[in-house]
Amino acid sequence: MKIKLLLVGSLIAIAGMALLANNINEKEGERKALAKAPVVPEADMNKNEEWSKYYPRQYSSWKKTKESDNIEDMLDTKPQLSVLWAGYGFAKDYNAPRGHYYAVQDNVNTLRTGAPKDSKTGPMPTACWTCKSPDVPRLIERDGENEYYSGKWSKYGSEVVNSIGCADCHDNETAELTMRRPYLDRALEAAGLNTFKDSTHQEKRSLVCAQCHSEYYFNKSEYTDKDGKTKTSVAVTLPWDEGLSAENMEKYYSDRNFTDWTHKISKAPMLKAQHPGFEIASTGIHAQKGVSCADCHMPYTQEGSVKYSDHQVGNPLDSMDKSCMPCHRESESKLKAIVKQKFDRKEFLMEIAMDNLAKAHLETGKAMELGATDDELKEIRLDIRHAQWRWDYSIASHGSFFHAPEETLRLLASANETAQQARLKLVRVLAKYNAIDFSAPDFSTKENAQKLAGVPLKDLIDAKMNFKATLEKAWHAEAVKKGNLNISSREDVDKTSSYFKK
Ligand code: HEC
Ligand code: HEC
Ligand code: HEC
Ligand code: HEC
Repeated sequence: MKIKLLLVGSLIAIAGMALLANNINEKEGERKALAKAPVVPEADMNKNEEWSKYYPRQYSSWKKTKESDNIEDMLDTKPQLSVLWAGYGFAKDYNAPRGHYYAVQDNVNTLRTGAPKDSKTGPMPTACWTCKSPDVPRLIERDGENEYYSGKWSKYGSEVVNSIGCADCHDNETAELTMRRPYLDRALEAAGLNTFKDSTHQEKRSLVCAQCHSEYYFNKSEYTDKDGKTKTSVAVTLPWDEGLSAENMEKYYSDRNFTDWTHKISKAPMLKAQHPGFEIASTGIHAQKGVSCADCHMPYTQEGSVKYSDHQVGNPLDSMDKSCMPCHRESESKLKAIVKQKFDRKEFLMEIAMDNLAKAHLETGKAMELGATDDELKEIRLDIRHAQWRWDYSIASHGSFFHAPEETLRLLASANETAQQARLKLVRVLAKYNAIDFSAPDFSTKENAQKLAGVPLKDLIDAKMNFKATLEKAWHAEAVKKGNLNISSREDVDKTSSYFKK
């Protein structure tokens, strides 16, 4: 009996010791885990190369976004676009998106940002940098939002120099997912949604993308700077107060009498949709079933015993085994064929909508030429505004045909119906001015369409080339001198845009 007791006693002691050891092991494990999230020095966190020292796998997969280097000139592929955007920057130059690695350089190269001569000139505001670089949150935190959003784009030529990277999505001390663009939280709040901090981990895996892949507009307002001077700020603002649908945002803009530009041919008060990718994707089956952007675009990858997120954000159809197959049982080829079918359906309705819209602009222009009054054209111009907004909202984020096919087709149908309404009214106006037989001039090539839109392409290119040889070179040198940029981080970034080849 005594022996038994002794045995039980020692067993208890042994168990206790094991527990303690376990506990110590756990603590040790935790410590190691914590030590695995090294602090990236704040002063260098804008530079992606700095992070490579601590997170080589994430860094090297991030850097592979440079493999997506193809430049597709969309104005060449879809010439109608130059007519639809006449009078607006996009009629000059618009390429399909490519790898995150090129975001800063593409922003510098595009004809839309023009050819400034110094830090105070150029057609665009500083806001144009906002979704290109982790230097943007750095500047917002350094200078304050008002100062960041004031002045011309060229003001920050030597500051915004590192392309979309680690510090856009991660905390430098914990490597946790984070969000550093304050307008997103304001918009989430205005829409009655959880702010970033209060969202679930799975939601954050999409919200980091929503910092940039969302609809926005440039909201002009006045503020008083620290010296008491009145200045204008042009701030990126997401129009989510009424909700995230095309109709909600249309109401938001109309309530504020907002127009992005007056159309050069039809004088319609236009809206430009800027890739509402997050918004339209939220209506699709994947988002509704809780699938996040990162699930498909940054799938988990196994390398030996290490599992990590593939940071080569790109086309998930190139990595279906990791991006789709964890959830789907069909064969890859069958799934691909389904996706292709969705793409073709979108193209079909989109082509009709673009054709109708381009003709509506040109017919309105003809009616004006013949003497039609603003009063006669008022409703027609409003129809054009609404139709083009819905078309643009539905396709501006490229992947929408897959992310949210039903919503994309619904909006394209609505765009077509409204553009047709405008053209029916135009038949009456043109008849009144004896031009019932008018048919719109040919816009089936980029050259023809840009002529109709009044784009002086050659002059724009010459000016841009001059800018690249002078001011841009100076920016680069200054950025290196200021320590904003590692020279190595710009190697072969300057892939010229299509128009430089011509
Ligand atoms: C566009 C946003 C984005 C950018 C840019 C980005 N990451 Fe990530 N990163 C993510 C997401 C999303 C995850 C998945 C996190 C999760 O679910 O916990 C992730 C995960 C990670 C993790 C956790 C381990 C893993 O692989 O899942 C590390 C470490 C990391 N990233 C480092 C980096 C580094 C280094 C860079 C820059 C070279 C970088 N990230 C750039 C979004 C981003
Ligand atoms: C800081 C802003 C920013 C963030 C954050 C961001 N993107 Fe992007 N994304 C861009 C820009 C700008 C481009 C276009 C780059 C170019 O064409 O130069 C782009 C391009 C893309 C492309 C096209 C890539 C290709 O090779 O064609 C995909 C896909 C994409 N982003 C998905 C995502 C996903 C998914 C997330 C979140 C995990 C995300 N992005 C986060 C700004 C951002
Ligand atoms: C279920 C998988 C899946 C999810 C979830 C997903 N995507 Fe995609 N995404 C795709 C596929 C597939 C394509 C189409 C690729 C192609 O062009 O063929 C695509 C295309 C894109 C494109 C266009 C790329 C280009 O070069 O034209 C962008 C940008 C993009 N997605 C961003 C996002 C963002 C942001 C989210 C989250 C709000 C998201 N995606 C969620 C699978 C997904
Ligand atoms: C995290 C899981 C998950 C991932 C990853 C995922 N899917 Fe899905 N997918 C779903 C769910 C859930 C549905 C909804 C239907 C269902 O419940 O079976 C769905 C539906 C679909 C549908 C039919 C929906 C429609 O709109 O007609 C297609 C097509 C599809 N997925 C393709 C893809 C492709 C291609 C990829 C990779 C790029 C992918 N999925 C990645 C979970 C996923």
